[in-house]
Amino acid sequence: MIGVFDSGLGGLSVLAAIARVLPRADLVYLADTAHVPYGSKPDDFIRGRVLTIGRHLIEAHRCTLLVVACNTATAAAVNELRLQHPGIPVVGVEPGVKPAAQSSRSRKIAVLATEATARSERLARLIHEHASHVDVEVVPCPGWATRVETLHLADAGAPDFATQVRATIEALLTRGADRIVLGCTHYAFLLHLIEPLTRGRAELIDVAEPVARQVLRLATTNARPPSGQRRLSLLATARPERLAAALPALGLGELAQRSLGPAQLARI
Ligand code: DGL
Repeated sequence: MIGVFDSGLGGLSVLAAIARVLPRADLVYLADTAHVPYGSKPDDFIRGRVLTIGRHLIEAHRCTLLVVACNTATAAAVNELRLQHPGIPVVGVEPGVKPAAQSSRSRKIAVLATEATARSERLARLIHEHASHVDVEVVPCPGWATRVETLHLADAGAPDFATQVRATIEALLTRGADRIVLGCTHYAFLLHLIEPLTRGRAELIDVAEPVARQVLRLATTNARPPSGQRRLSLLATARPERLAAALPALGLGELAQRSLGPAQLARI
């Protein structure tokens, strides 16, 4: 069983990529919707949630591989999670700074991220190691992940939000960025707003596919995916019905069909 988790719906973009490369592996997805967003919370709080969720997935769901499908949680706690479970491979998600810096022609890249990721030492180190030869603009995007959580529901404020997203992207393009890194898994669900602006002007960098390939490499040696039909369990720490409803609305209807009954409430 492979356990994938995030603060909410964002990690579903990673789950979908994993489901594509590992069509028969059993998956459990946990959305910590009682505590979303992580990005505006203190590092200690995020760390506590990551360790609690990791332990729950291993002990209650017998996960043999964990995917922290959240840049914020990875930055705050992937090291501690690995230390607590040395026998379990843990795959984290980090902004694609390296591919962006390597491929940029304008030598200017931008990283869209939550506040917590933007201030993290881990991101600073990533930039120092892989992007010191380019100009990197880190853009904290407060509120964006929360809006993605409700975007598929009727949302009267959505036009304002779309305007804000478009203005942010347009400003980055004007300042010469030719690579824009989606440094939060929630932002994959904003492509309909971002792509029309960046097409032909900048490349969007999302690491869901490389992360899924890393999971595939580890799963074949450690998790031994069973043959036959996959099982997908959906868990949320609040409003599980919203998680299930979001799947088709986010274009992940096929995953929804494969899930084992309705999403369950995880009281952790
Ligand atoms: N999806 C998460 C990330 O990749 C966190 C969003 C949030 O809860 O603030 O950073």
